[in-house]
Amino acid sequence: MDRFLVEGGKQLNGTVKISGSKNACLPILVASLLTDEPFILHRVPNLRDVRTTLKILTALGKKTQYENGTVTITADGELKNSLPYELVKQMRASFWVAGPLLARFKSAEIPLPGGCALGARPVDIHLKGFEKLGATCATERGNVILSAQELKPAKITLRFPSVGATQNLMMCASLIEGETVLENIAKEPEIEDVAEVLRKMGAELFTDEKGRLVIRGRNKLNGVEHAVVADRIETGSYILAAAATRGDVRVEDCVPEHNSILLEYMQEAGVPMEIGENYVHVKPYQAPLKPVRIKTAPYPGFATDLQAPWMALMILAQGASEVDEVIFENRFMHAPELVRMGADIVTEKSVARINGVKELSGAHVMASDLRGGFALLMAGLCAKGITEIERVYHIDRGYEDPEGKLNALGAKVTRYNPDKDDF
Ligand code: EPZ
Repeated sequence: MDRFLVEGGKQLNGTVKISGSKNACLPILVASLLTDEPFILHRVPNLRDVRTTLKILTALGKKTQYENGTVTITADGELKNSLPYELVKQMRASFWVAGPLLARFKSAEIPLPGGCALGARPVDIHLKGFEKLGATCATERGNVILSAQELKPAKITLRFPSVGATQNLMMCASLIEGETVLENIAKEPEIEDVAEVLRKMGAELFTDEKGRLVIRGRNKLNGVEHAVVADRIETGSYILAAAATRGDVRVEDCVPEHNSILLEYMQEAGVPMEIGENYVHVKPYQAPLKPVRIKTAPYPGFATDLQAPWMALMILAQGASEVDEVIFENRFMHAPELVRMGADIVTEKSVARINGVKELSGAHVMASDLRGGFALLMAGLCAKGITEIERVYHIDRGYEDPEGKLNALGAKVTRYNPDKDDF
């Protein structure tokens, strides 16, 4: 398995262009199951999770092509309505196929996504929503079996604004004639991107005066051509990496307003930035970084996906700060790895208490999830000496060409495979 060797003491300088959003393109690619017409998606990042999603669509009977950031999906005979466990276990988001398959076939059999490093990752909110739409949900031998005589529009209130459940139900309801109303939905920008695609396919989606999402579905949806929104988590990750190395970096092709709360907290910490229409320019600074306490929350609150990169900034602040992770039950796996590099972090339940240190030292560490892996990359750039990061495949799930983008900014990150390369 690939590893990264990261040379420390590097300051990032230059321009980095943001790719299309992983968390928008995955559900949008799955929406291609709602139609047999050609489905063209631009600005698709070359990520492990994208390639897995294309494998899933092929396994379900679609023909997929992926060239220079554009994915073209066409019908290739009958669609199947069940998925092999092999594919689902690689990526929890494969459960998003349930909504479209249920809507098209009135039945679907999908392996229950297992837990992951972040925690149990249940899908009860998805299933409760399908039941409201008229489906029966049973779980047998690790598979979710959905079936419905007839699906009908419904009013559904989510007990928690789950991103995946919102997307799954939006896609399902778009193929059900009549008016479905979703209340207490996730408001992440990726949701709006999925809604935009469903509108282009012929469904009607709008937010009513109570902030609920109204979906007027149709019994047939058209093909679509769409370009994916910029990845706000990649944007935040590079802004934080630039600030951690006190470099001079212009992060381009992004949507700064999707990172408003992060930018606010970074200004509070004392990081000078120029914020434009579609760029954020992080400026160099000498003053000590001020510690700032954050708590994760559904959008527009502080993104749980930026919690680990934020921690990698705060470990170098002057003073004590806290990170309160209330979205996932186990999202501090990067903390002990950062401690191995000299950080001073104590975690207790959902809170990590950080005392900033003057210096980090390179060490041999291991990534356990994609965002924690990026945090280790950030710490490696700032540390004294070399940091070796194992299980880089986690980082490859959500960051397009990470070493290419970082090295173009002056970093020295080398990818190698100890089983193949002799260093
Ligand atoms: C999406 O995951 C993202 N993944 C995650 O990004 C992101 O961290 C998460 O949203 C929160 O923003 C994709 O979009 C592919 P949730 P999702 O359903 O949809 C609980 C990354 O780093 N929950 O909003 O799975 C759940 O256990 C990844 O790019 C239920 O209890 O997130 C979690 O504690 C990691 N029952 C919380 O809600 C359910 O039915 C948030 O989950 C569904 C969720």
